Amino acid sequence: MKNGILLIIVLIIFIAVIGVFSVESYTAQPSFCGTKCHIMDKPYTSWQTSKHGKAGKEEVACVDCHYAPGEKMTLHAKFKGLGQLFTYLSSDDKEVRRATHVADISCTTSKCHPLEQFMEKKLDYGKEKKVTFTHKAHYEKIIPGQEMHCTTCHVKASDDKHFEAPAEQCYICHFKHSEFNKGKAACNLCHAIPTTPLQQQKKDAPLNPDEKVITHQSLEKAGVSCQSCHYQLIIGDASLIPGGCDNCHSNAEILKKDDDMKLMHAEHVAKQKAACFDCHQKIQHKEIEFLEPARLACRSCHPDHHSYQQQLLVGARRGDVPATPSLMFAAKTNCMGCHQEEKKLRGETVVRGAAKTCVDCHGPDHDKMLADWEKEVQGEVAFCKETEQRVKDLLEKARNQLSAEQISEFEALMEKGRKSLDIVEFGNGIHNKKYSIMLIDDALTSFETVLDEVEPLVAESETAESETEQ
Ligand code: HEC
Ligand code: HEC
Ligand code: HEC
Ligand code: HEC
Ligand code: HEC
Ligand code: HEC
Ligand code: HEC
Ligand code: HEC
Ligand code: HEC
Ligand code: HEC
Repeated sequence: MKNGILLIIVLIIFIAVIGVFSVESYTAQPSFCGTKCHIMDKPYTSWQTSKHGKAGKEEVACVDCHYAPGEKMTLHAKFKGLGQLFTYLSSDDKEVRRATHVADISCTTSKCHPLEQFMEKKLDYGKEKKVTFTHKAHYEKIIPGQEMHCTTCHVKASDDKHFEAPAEQCYICHFKHSEFNKGKAACNLCHAIPTTPLQQQKKDAPLNPDEKVITHQSLEKAGVSCQSCHYQLIIGDASLIPGGCDNCHSNAEILKKDDDMKLMHAEHVAKQKAACFDCHQKIQHKEIEFLEPARLACRSCHPDHHSYQQQLLVGARRGDVPATPSLMFAAKTNCMGCHQEEKKLRGETVVRGAAKTCVDCHGPDHDKMLADWEKEVQGEVAFCKETEQRVKDLLEKARNQLSAEQISEFEALMEKGRKSLDIVEFGNGIHNKKYSIMLIDDALTSFETVLDEVEPLVAESETAESETEQ
């Protein structure tokens, strides 16, 4: 009886062991990963058609890449696999997004891609195979906090390829925080600079040695900015995707660390926990329509467009003028709140501010208010400008009676006054009437301080002049 029980136990253990081994070898088959598990449909198909799948010389199994050599048979790997199974079974979502981890050593084993076979090889890269790429250059210089892995460049980027080295990976490293055509963004690192003439009529016609030919080389010598013609080639700055961290983390302490670049790269890139574009936006680098982007880059020609209006709405403290935000600022009314009325200005449509918008929010009694504000502010501005002009004229007359120190002191005061007046004159004081009146008073105080000093001097010298004339 005892022996019988023992035999049954031994038999159960035997069956279990056989079971585990056959499950292990069954689950390690690409066909298991690919056909029994629906979330792997696309990766399986893309693997099949790749050099590493049926289309290649030799079929490489999923587990040969996705588990490092030696890791495959460990308990850890089995638990990782079981974990994936449970995630799959307990989820309705067909495509669960999780970071893949392919260890470098899976690729570089002697039977696959030993480093010496490709490290120094010059590869022709890109759609037109015009960009020269070498692996070696990339193992010497890296981005702060990162460690270079094969999956830094060879990533899953589209459904039809299992993995590839898409050009977006190059652009983030080479163009982020780089000056145009400088350092690692220098065009000639990756491209041959054309040497043919840029003038159409010189391209085919035989060259007359006396004529000036425009080439990339002549432009560079003359210091012409490359951006004059290539402005649109690099678009975007790969800044962080707002809320990108939230896709994977919820702990507030962890989320606070997003400003520590080295730590972010060490935790996610060096340890292969996230892909570049889980955190960064993409940078575009290609030939597109070239005028529109330059036209829309308002800041390149108007570095501080409409900043006066904003300064007025915010009403920050300025010297002796206390903080006085616009009455509407507290209620978060933005520019569009009042700018609703379409009008034509020099042939173009502009959406202007108008009394009708005050009425929409406040009611009919506010109809006249804007006109009153305008009148009051305009009157104050006009008076302040007159005073400024008068003081300037007097200062000119008194100039040779003043020391160099006095001159620079008075000019600084005039300048300070002008700055306050600029905000109201050019920002239109109605954007914050109370603050505008205070800014004008501040400007007047500066102008009048100078006036009090120079007026007596000019008066004195004028009386002296009229006395000598007599
Ligand atoms: C900095 C980016 C980058 C890194 C990092 C990188 N590669 Fe590459 N690799 C490329 C590019 C680009 C190509 C050219 C691919 C193409 O033309 O689409 C390439 C091509 C290859 C090729 C084909 C070579 C040939 O002769 O055609 C092999 C093999 C390869 N890489 C292996 C690796 C391995 C293994 C690692 C990790 C040890 C690695 N690469 C890391 C960018 C990279
Ligand atoms: C030659 C090595 C290799 C083989 C073989 C291989 N893979 Fe991959 N796999 C990779 C690499 C490299 C990536 C891209 C990793 C990255 O983007 O960081 C990847 C990505 C993936 C992804 C992630 C897709 C995504 O959207 O992020 C899945 C899932 C995957 N493989 C499953 C499989 C399955 C299933 C098989 C077998 C049918 C397989 N792989 C075979 C190397 C391999
Ligand atoms: C992880 C960041 C990173 C990625 C991704 C990357 N590069 Fe680089 N690359 C660098 C750095 C850093 C240098 C060194 C620049 C220097 O010398 O100033 C460099 C150097 C180069 C050079 C000059 C090589 C030499 O011999 O000096 C070329 C060409 C180049 N990269 C092309 C590419 C291409 C093409 C890609 C995309 C397939 C790419 N890189 C992807 C960081 C990167
Ligand atoms: C890190 C390498 C790298 C640097 C630096 C670089 N490029 Fe490129 N460039 C590329 C790649 C890769 C492509 C895509 C080529 C392809 O797919 O054939 C490209 C595409 C282009 C194209 C578009 C070609 C087309 O047919 O659409 C132009 C034009 C160009 N680059 C000009 C420049 C200029 C100008 C600079 C300097 C400001 C520059 N590039 C810097 C790698 C680089
Ligand atoms: C007057 C306008 C102009 C200026 C300035 C200019 N380029 Fe170009 N660039 C062109 C044109 C047009 C082409 C296409 C020429 C061709 O196909 O022969 C071109 C092509 C290129 C290409 C080849 C891209 C490819 O597809 O392989 C590179 C690289 C380049 N320029 C770099 C520069 C650099 C670097 C500077 C600054 C020293 C510069 N360019 C200044 C007009 C200009
Ligand atoms: C694609 C998913 C993903 C994204 C996006 C991501 N992380 Fe992570 N992060 C991870 C994983 C996985 C780990 C490793 C955690 C572990 O091993 O326990 C990690 C680790 C960390 C760690 C160190 C580990 C710790 O617990 O202290 C910090 C800090 C962190 N992440 C912060 C961030 C911040 C901030 C962002 C956004 C800028 C971000 N992460 C974006 C997946 C991600
Ligand atoms: C977990 C989030 C995260 C991931 C993943 C990540 N980065 Fe970053 N990266 C940052 C942060 C944070 C900064 C600093 C903030 C900034 O400059 O926008 C940064 C900055 C950079 C810079 C500017 C470096 C400098 O010296 O100024 C480059 C280049 C860069 N990352 C490249 C990459 C590349 C390439 C990858 C993928 C291989 C990557 N990053 C993956 C978070 C991340
Ligand atoms: C290439 C340089 C350049 C770019 C880019 C540019 N502007 Fe201008 N803009 C000017 C110049 C110069 C004037 C002054 C015209 C004059 O003499 O009255 C001006 C005048 C204006 C005016 C005053 C009203 C007028 O019609 O004269 C407005 C408003 C304006 N620009 C808005 C914009 C906006 C918005 C953008 C971006 C969509 C933009 N600008 C892009 C050069 C530029
Ligand atoms: C409280 C309502 C209100 C808000 C908020 C507002 N505006 Fe105005 N804005 C007006 C009114 C009213 C005018 C005068 C319209 C007129 O007389 O043509 C005006 C005029 C202007 C003018 C023409 C300047 C001039 O000399 O007349 C500009 C430019 C302007 N606003 C920009 C802005 C900008 C930019 C913002 C946001 C930062 C803004 N405004 C917010 C009501 C407002
Ligand atoms: C989008 C709606 C909106 C528009 C447009 C708007 N206001 Fe207001 N305004 C408010 C709100 C809300 C407050 C109350 C702010 C607070 O005190 O918290 C306010 C406050 C005021 C006050 C302070 C006294 C009071 O009645 O509460 C005055 C005066 C005023 N607005 C005048 C104007 C004038 C003049 C215009 C047109 C140039 C205008 N508003 C346009 C919403 C608006």
